[in-house]
Amino acid sequence: MAFSSVRVGCVRSVSSTAEQRAAYDWCERTFPRAERVPVDALADDDLDLDVYDVLWWHTDDPIDSEVLAACRGSVETYLERGGGLLLSLRALSAVSDLGIDAVAPDAVGVERSPEPTGFSVKSLHAEHPAFETFDGLRFETTVEERQRSFARYERLVPERGDVLACGYREGDAPGRKTIVSWTQGTRSVIGVGDSFAFDPNTATADDADDSDDPGERAANRSGLAEGVLRFLANGATAPLTTRPRTDEEFAALRRSLSADPNRPTYHLTPPANWCNDPNGLIEYDGNYHVFYQYNPAGPFHGTIHWGHAVSEDLVHWEDRPVALAPSPEGPDRDGCWSGCTVLDGGTPTLFYTGGRDRRQLPCRATAADRSLDSWIKDPANPVIGAPPPDLDLLASEHWEAEFRDHCLWNEDGSWYHLIGSGIAEAGGTVLLYESPDLDEWQFRAPLLVGDQEGAGSVWECPELLDLGGKRLLHVSNYGTVPYFLGRFDPESGTFERERETGDGSGGDPDGVLDHGDFYAPQSMRTGDGRVLTWGWVVEARPPERQWDAGWSGALSIPRELSLSDAGGLIQRPARELEALRGDHVGVSDLRLAEESKPLDASGTALEIGATISVEADAAFELVVRKSPDGEERTPIRYTGEEVIVYREHSSLDPAVAADALRAPVENEDDGENGVVDLRVFVDGSVIEVFANESDCLTSRVYPTRPDSTDLSVAAIGGDVTIETLDVWQLESAWPAEDASEG
Ligand code: FRU
Repeated sequence: MAFSSVRVGCVRSVSSTAEQRAAYDWCERTFPRAERVPVDALADDDLDLDVYDVLWWHTDDPIDSEVLAACRGSVETYLERGGGLLLSLRALSAVSDLGIDAVAPDAVGVERSPEPTGFSVKSLHAEHPAFETFDGLRFETTVEERQRSFARYERLVPERGDVLACGYREGDAPGRKTIVSWTQGTRSVIGVGDSFAFDPNTATADDADDSDDPGERAANRSGLAEGVLRFLANGATAPLTTRPRTDEEFAALRRSLSADPNRPTYHLTPPANWCNDPNGLIEYDGNYHVFYQYNPAGPFHGTIHWGHAVSEDLVHWEDRPVALAPSPEGPDRDGCWSGCTVLDGGTPTLFYTGGRDRRQLPCRATAADRSLDSWIKDPANPVIGAPPPDLDLLASEHWEAEFRDHCLWNEDGSWYHLIGSGIAEAGGTVLLYESPDLDEWQFRAPLLVGDQEGAGSVWECPELLDLGGKRLLHVSNYGTVPYFLGRFDPESGTFERERETGDGSGGDPDGVLDHGDFYAPQSMRTGDGRVLTWGWVVEARPPERQWDAGWSGALSIPRELSLSDAGGLIQRPARELEALRGDHVGVSDLRLAEESKPLDASGTALEIGATISVEADAAFELVVRKSPDGEERTPIRYTGEEVIVYREHSSLDPAVAADALRAPVENEDDGENGVVDLRVFVDGSVIEVFANESDCLTSRVYPTRPDSTDLSVAAIGGDVTIETLDVWQLESAWPAEDASEG
């Protein structure tokens, strides 16, 4: 539709402000058939709105709810008949009164920003027609130090709307969700709540002479306004990215990211946007359920919901709709943080941390159906009203007390419940509660207090696992995942370490579950008695790169935890992963004399299993994600004492991690030769290494070249014998990606 023919109805307030007049003046200059629609007429239902291709309601003043109530009927009818609506600045707040979304923007007001502001478009929406005039994802629309009004989502996200763009303030400001779209059938609404001012005195005017290039910013603002108005006038709709629900929506979203060679395909990932910790893991009714911390608004941490994936075999996964969303009126308004699931008399029941203002408190929800798609929150939430008053728990600028994450189990008729925290001047701790019925909780004692120098000042995501014979307590301390082996004493409510620590303190941990980009793991006990653990595979690239990618975070492959005969920890990939194996290349009895050899296999979704014997002073190297000329390459080296992943040449992108990651390896052969058993899982940007089924090292690498897919092996500083080496291509875990390939 050409500009000249678009009919824009500009909704005029009873007393129009300078900002509203400036915007509508601009509109009439740009769209010759635009005209003003007095709000009274809209309310009185006097007008035939169908003559307009798009309605635009722009105001820097709050709109009275009585006015909105009066307009709601005619706006609804107009939208149902296929009209488009743009709500901008404070008019974005009208979404709840107009029946467009139950959740209205929570950050509304007038502000003066010291820097120019604009937008960061979500990369999933880079092709959205509303942003047609922009080459990149980021553009500025206003100059600094002008007073202007805004309405945006910060702590909250719309319930049904799709976030198209967030703020930009000399860098991404993803927490300010400023452009939102609602599409339902033919109804199409877009809200632009910020950085969208037209009045020269408040905004972007070409004649505002104290900025670098106000002309360009004004042009951007106009380009955005034109793009949005034309898109809405065309009656087009855009794909849903925020909270997909159907298989087709999930498939479309995964397909839109599938060209990214750094996106894992057989690891658990969110369909798009953000994930962190695995949560609520449970095998139930013949299915394995994995929930995870999910931000539907984009690839950054914030507005945390619970995403959900389900599998019948632990390796092929299906996306399910968001399982748990913050309640705008509830104690979890600001986020549904990590937690776990237990069976309460057979009913799946989850405990999670609700965040609101500066409080973190335990909340509960029970499954509403056997698919675990829907959960009913306990109206009595929070289930524990405050942290234990007599402990000097650490506070922070964000939290009155660090008090979060849950591990529950039933033992001898009692429910036990662990919550992560930290004690001032002491160290990270795990607080133990007990209950006869999951309703009334009594605080027992700190289960264990770590030494803040050694094991961190706050412990998150505690988990106590019964490995048969002894228990393993692991915690996440903002850096790594230390673990402690010992015994749970229900009488005293404490954890007795098997290793003497001498001074009665928690002492040094017995080890860490992984030495790399792996955090906040949680476990599932399977029907056949195994303990399977997934961790969050953290990104090693800056937030802007995650924004550009459109997704962030993955979960590790499931690891089976058990004890060796000697009582040490064994970690091995869950055997089910073998079902993903496809094409295979094998090498055996190959002696390498200080040389390098290419392997006749390549790819970005691989499993490599090898048994290598290494002479004293020699090292074995497996190089993955290598370009043919070696410009990009990631060597994984085994030295006899350590596994090292060198990332210096992993990527030509200078912004991503380039440091080496190291894991000490237990080597029982102290003779001439060290024999090591290696399992390496390469999946896009994820590399997980298991050495001798005990020492794990997860790392992230982000090659930029599409041909960085080769593999090679080398002996360094001496001779190495490859006793066996197998490379398998691994299939995707997701139905959508298989479809896109075929
Ligand atoms: C660990 C963690 C948890 C918290 C969650 C929030 O990564 O910080 O302590 O519950 O993530 O997303």
